[in-house]
Amino acid sequence: MTPALQHLREEAASCTRCDLYRAATQTVFGDGPVPVTLALIGEQPGDYEDRTGHPFVGPSGELLDRALEAAGIDRSQVYVTNAVKHFKWTPRGKRRIHQTPNQTEVQACRPWLERELELAAPQFVGLLGAVAAKAVLGSAFRVTRSRGQVLTAAVGGWSGQAVATVHPSSILRATDADAREQGFKAFVTDLEVMAGLLA
Ligand code: URA
Repeated sequence: MTPALQHLREEAASCTRCDLYRAATQTVFGDGPVPVTLALIGEQPGDYEDRTGHPFVGPSGELLDRALEAAGIDRSQVYVTNAVKHFKWTPRGKRRIHQTPNQTEVQACRPWLERELELAAPQFVGLLGAVAAKAVLGSAFRVTRSRGQVLTAAVGGWSGQAVATVHPSSILRATDADAREQGFKAFVTDLEVMAGLLA
């Protein structure tokens, strides 16, 4: 992490740009080497990420790790972050249930993502799920229609290429083993497009 990115991380730690900080444990900022070739952008931290302070370390992160390995991408060479940096949740008994961030929350968090991309300076970004894809490619973007395509993108002062795919949690949520297997294969195929850009 460069001093400038470390400074940004410290600033983001006290972010109150929207109300999500109230119920979250901490800001979960990006992790990984910089400058970097590939940055992966997810939606928002989940329960594990909120507790540990690191992106993609829970069940979605474990699936992501397996898929990256299958696609031949070394996660230690990738910068990993989220479009929204606080966990949005609602209580159900003792559990904290994920809630999708709304447009206002994504917009409130955007300056962090802009600066983060400017400083991490990836050549391309991998967008995990609709929230990240719309944050970077615009609200009309549809992952189902355009996943796996190499597109051009700009966020703040950063510009480069982007490849969108599904969010790993959608594979975990699939109701049967067959659907999970198909979903995983299709996810790896999209990550292989990113691996091709890395090569
Ligand atoms: N889901 C995300 O989008 N990001 C994380 O960091 C964890 C789960």
